[in-house]
Amino acid sequence: MTRHFLRDDDLSPAEQAEVLALAAELKATRHTAGAPTPLAAHGVPRAVAVLFDKPSTRTRVSFSVGVAELGGYPLVIDAGSSQLGRGEPIEDTTRVLDRQAAAIVWRTFGQDRIEAMAAVSRVPVVNALTDEFHPCQILADLQTVIERKGSLAGRSLTYLGDGANNMAHSYLLGGATAGMHVRIGSPEGFRPDKAVLERAAEIAAQTGGSVAWTADPAAAADGADVLATDTWVSMGQEGEYEARIAPFLPYAVDDAALARAAEDAVVLHCLPAYRGKEIAASVIDGPNSAVWDEAENRLHAQKALLAWLLEKSR
Ligand code: CP
Ligand code: NVA
Repeated sequence: MTRHFLRDDDLSPAEQAEVLALAAELKATRHTAGAPTPLAAHGVPRAVAVLFDKPSTRTRVSFSVGVAELGGYPLVIDAGSSQLGRGEPIEDTTRVLDRQAAAIVWRTFGQDRIEAMAAVSRVPVVNALTDEFHPCQILADLQTVIERKGSLAGRSLTYLGDGANNMAHSYLLGGATAGMHVRIGSPEGFRPDKAVLERAAEIAAQTGGSVAWTADPAAAADGADVLATDTWVSMGQEGEYEARIAPFLPYAVDDAALARAAEDAVVLHCLPAYRGKEIAASVIDGPNSAVWDEAENRLHAQKALLAWLLEKSR
């Protein structure tokens, strides 16, 4: 059966742990003679299609480098340079790609678009960010927390900012899957999607974690082991820029918020960051910040994910 990774809960708790363990192994053995090359079939490199309907730096680089390190080669295609961007049906594009590529990675708008692709694809489809979820980022974030804290289950992760965006939703699902206590602090008008919150609560009930939403940023940050944030203006929302700043000001990850968190709290931000808006320069550039490891871990986590999906889809 072809396995896809469209949302964080496409991996069970045990499967997520397997992928994260593999990510650590691939990081430790990178550039060694025994490093696995699952994208080289009998020595012949296989292609992975990496499609972008939105801009990207980290995702573009980490998938390109990662696919090459796994023995394959990336075909990076921007919407503006493909027929998909001119309205070719998603299903038709997918049927062309899946006969030639070993996997398809796609950054796009609505989750319905990537679901339409996965519904017809015979090769794994990976969500490289949609309006609703950013599950590859959360794998990298979890790998980073393991590196800093040794484990995930039972630790608290607070996210302050836009509770309705892709990062908030993926922290809820991915964090609950890992058995973490996930707290979202956001303005009332930017609460997480109800169905996502309910699904995350259902997962947390099985893993021993918990999920919560609050409009009180101080209560959300209190004692947090991990303090995370993201831009207040996601890709596609640029037209709402002015209206989106003021409501979020009390939710900034600044020195006061960090002081409420655990003393050795790990600060995460998926990047790109806007210093002086969602995060203070003193915090992102300070001693608690793990953002550069987090960005590097996109590479290792996604290599592990691709290798795992290919193995399970054989
Ligand atoms: N964090 C992240 O996905 O970054 P890019 O938009 O640069 O890919
Ligand atoms: N929420 C942000 C994440 C960027 C990696 C966005 O969608 O633009």
